[in-house]
Amino acid sequence: MENRKNRKMIIGLTSGNGYGFQPGAWRTPGIDPTDYTSYDARVRHAQVAERGKFQFIFLPDGPFTDDSSLLETEAPNFNLDVMMTLAAVARETKRIGLVATGSTTFNAPYTLAKQFKALDIMSHGRAGWNAITSTSNDVAAIYGQTIPSSRDRYGRAHEVVQLVQAFWGSWGKDAWVHNQQSGQFAKYDEIATVSLKGNYINARGTLYIPPSEQGQPIVFHAGGSPNAHEFAGRFANVVIGAAFTIEDSIQQRNAFRESAKKYGRDPDEIKFIAGMMTTIVKDRRTALDRRLQLMGHLLPQRIAYLQQMLGIRLDGNDLNEPLSQKQLEAARPSPYDPRSAIALKIAKEGWSLKDVIAHGIIDYHPSIVGPGIEAADHMQAWFEAGACDGFWISPDVLDDGIDAFVDEVVPILQERGLFHKDYEGTTLREHIGAPEQYGIDPRV
Ligand SMILES: Cc1cc2nc3c(=O)[nH]c(=O)nc-3n(C[C@H](O)[C@H](O)[C@H](O)COP(=O)(O)O)c2cc1C
Repeated sequence: MENRKNRKMIIGLTSGNGYGFQPGAWRTPGIDPTDYTSYDARVRHAQVAERGKFQFIFLPDGPFTDDSSLLETEAPNFNLDVMMTLAAVARETKRIGLVATGSTTFNAPYTLAKQFKALDIMSHGRAGWNAITSTSNDVAAIYGQTIPSSRDRYGRAHEVVQLVQAFWGSWGKDAWVHNQQSGQFAKYDEIATVSLKGNYINARGTLYIPPSEQGQPIVFHAGGSPNAHEFAGRFANVVIGAAFTIEDSIQQRNAFRESAKKYGRDPDEIKFIAGMMTTIVKDRRTALDRRLQLMGHLLPQRIAYLQQMLGIRLDGNDLNEPLSQKQLEAARPSPYDPRSAIALKIAKEGWSLKDVIAHGIIDYHPSIVGPGIEAADHMQAWFEAGACDGFWISPDVLDDGIDAFVDEVVPILQERGLFHKDYEGTTLREHIGAPEQYGIDPRV
């Protein structure tokens, strides 16, 4: 049995289009509508997360937007370029970890190795690489390809990560002498040439980058299939997860832990981080109104979806009235959407139809729409149940949503002994408690 006493949770912030994670965030009064191209905005957001002692910021990357027709009314969900953002943020922050997504299917190992290790040097040991395989044909088309099968994507991913880590370790730990008196710059015989010939990819060469303060970047992963478990079990220190219920999250976390064990690792070396979306405002009513202001224009579409989730008709309902007793009795939560049971529970509390939607029941992750204590309670329950090792937060609007979390949720978690009061060290490896590693992990 795992001992969770005295453990602290890990908290990360997602950073995407510069506005926030609710539709309509870019139109919020007071928000600069050009933040999509603003590196100052990205820096500002990371600095607030650092004030809250978050262990990392996480940048997803497609690179694509799910449905280009959405561009008519919504900002794309991604950074202009994740590495450029993190380079800018690295120079303006001191402690927070900097994690970017990079596809193993569409990048050369050498390119990944060079960019992430350079970022690791620039940030003094704070870089992380979210190694994902990409799943969309739209992404593949950008590279003039079609998407390979899961087997082939992950087959290549195993080789790419090993090559990347081999490149990271190719400049020996003590090879850099830079002795001005003796004239020796580096010990040539401690700098190795990587040479790997795999089923999917080959590479030969050397990466001329010495170790960073944490040695080399930390590997993250995001994926849910059995292949993802295998991959992360071998190589990842952190999994960016998605789960709607404690039970599901426990299962997912255990699958990754079991896989790590299979490869001779301590299961605590792999942290499962659950997603969470937030609208933190002093009381539930004000929070619901804030949500409605952001996504009110989408109510008809969301109601149509809620009908499917509950298996009842809602199109004749008054938006300002709760569901009728008859509707609540007839409702059957869809077994295909884990959010349905939560939606029904909220509907049964007697909220009006539009308020049910405003609770974020159709969000990508569990949503907290209310005061900070509700977020803290949610996080405590999941953490103590062994459902996760921490959370990655997607605030509704970044400009004030991160501050709200930092000022209203973080102090409660700290008071309860669930979250650290300050950084334990200076590197991402220290923040997440990952073991030392330089080059390939010989165990896996
Ligand atoms: C929380 C989470 C975040 C993800 N972020 C990205 C991302 O930024 N870019 C991307 O291409 N895929 C992302 N994915 C997709 C996964 O990499 C993966 O391809 C997908 O979940 C399908 O799983 P599988 O490949 O294991 O079958 C993410 C998945 C999850 C669960």
